Amino acid sequence: MNEAAVTAAPAIRSDAGIQSFFLPPGAAAKPRIARAEGVWLEDTDGNRYLDVSSGPVASNLGHGNPRVLAALERQARAAAFAFPMQFESAANIELGERLARLAGPGFERAFLVSGGSEATETAIKFCRQHAVVRGEPRRWKVIGREPGYHGNTLGALAVSGDAHAHEVFGPLLRAVDRVPAPFTYRLPPNHTAESYARACATALDEAIRREGPETVLAFIMEPVGGLATGALVAADPYYAMVREICTRHGVLLIYDEVMSGAGRTGTFLAADHWPGARPDIVILAKGVTAGYTPMGVMMAPAAMADDLARAGGFMQGFTYFANPLSCAIGAAVLAELEERDLMGNARRMGARLRGRLDALARTSPIVGDVRGLGLLLAIELVADKGTKAMIPLERMAPYRLQALGLRHGLALYCRRTNRGTYGDWVMVSPPLIVTADEIDLIADRLAAVLDEYAAELRADGVL
Ligand SMILES: Cc1ncc(COP(=O)(O)O)c(C=O)c1O
Repeated sequence: MNEAAVTAAPAIRSDAGIQSFFLPPGAAAKPRIARAEGVWLEDTDGNRYLDVSSGPVASNLGHGNPRVLAALERQARAAAFAFPMQFESAANIELGERLARLAGPGFERAFLVSGGSEATETAIKFCRQHAVVRGEPRRWKVIGREPGYHGNTLGALAVSGDAHAHEVFGPLLRAVDRVPAPFTYRLPPNHTAESYARACATALDEAIRREGPETVLAFIMEPVGGLATGALVAADPYYAMVREICTRHGVLLIYDEVMSGAGRTGTFLAADHWPGARPDIVILAKGVTAGYTPMGVMMAPAAMADDLARAGGFMQGFTYFANPLSCAIGAAVLAELEERDLMGNARRMGARLRGRLDALARTSPIVGDVRGLGLLLAIELVADKGTKAMIPLERMAPYRLQALGLRHGLALYCRRTNRGTYGDWVMVSPPLIVTADEIDLIADRLAAVLDEYAAELRADGVL
């Protein structure tokens, strides 16, 4: 790191940076990043923050990984850019092979793009073009869940379940039905998590029938939720039911594993937790390149890719697709993931973190629920654990917790979706390299942050 390049953060946000699109003039600046190493981030004032959420659940390998940096430099010097329509690249082939082996049967082919939203677009277009090629041109509708998140481009937003985003961008979207996400904490009256999961799967069956099964192309869902549901894991029967419903209606099942994939839940795909209910298509992003460079992936069966190739080729591509630099980084990330048994670490450290968060939920008056799998965990914030009453929405609880976290040396990922209609939560999802001592530090500091916030709420008469 060139010390001279590091300038201290101004107190007020600058107009030149991207913050000017989000923070009003005169707002306090965010900490300015100076360097990052392992699970730590350091700002230009020398404050250190533990990367509790891996940025937006992306930095799976932590920061400054020597193998990844070496791969980056090697590829950049050899050929930083070569366009896949003109040249094949060894880095693309290596990453494709690694992804196919890790994802397992049914996912022999990887289409590489520049992020999760592009991967969603790619999956939808791939399914649609395949339907046209196989003689089912009436199939175009993609059903999603409410709430659910698949990206911020218009196609991805159309299948995302965020009523607020649809309110603003709705006229630009071709959205169809969405079905309820199978929440496990806030349940409708007279339901258990399992009976509600069954009801939500049945709602999918009904939605497909209502739309006309011959017009429905795909159902897209996050097998383990991200920000939209706070790491929701459905009750077990849900997965097999959804699989059966999609198969029965000839509807493709797309798993959005942008957040849950690449080892985060302790297996390469979260889908691996329900082997009897494999999806047809999987999309990945974040953890594949672990934040070192932009990358998104659509994984598909060889037979489907071959069908399109024989019919003239998949009508998809971008300037930066299968970019050699990103591919070399992805291959190095996956090599680290396997050789250092980071999926095993995600299971072991995930269990330890889960235990510590469950203990926190017993003592903190504002932690209503702990959810997730492996190192994809979230805590749900409440004002009353008995009634599950939410903290008043205008208090913007996740953002307040994030601000308090910074004071305690924690970088937390919070972004309210759906205006907080379904609840407020915070992702607790550190890099997969995290150690037991670091888990304990996260839990200790988080306890202090929650205590401070609870005291603040109590002082204001909210608790
Ligand atoms: C489940 C899920 N799908 C899609 C996306 C969009 O990915 P990106 O931000 O890389 O476009 C995200 C991003 O957070 C996500 O969590």
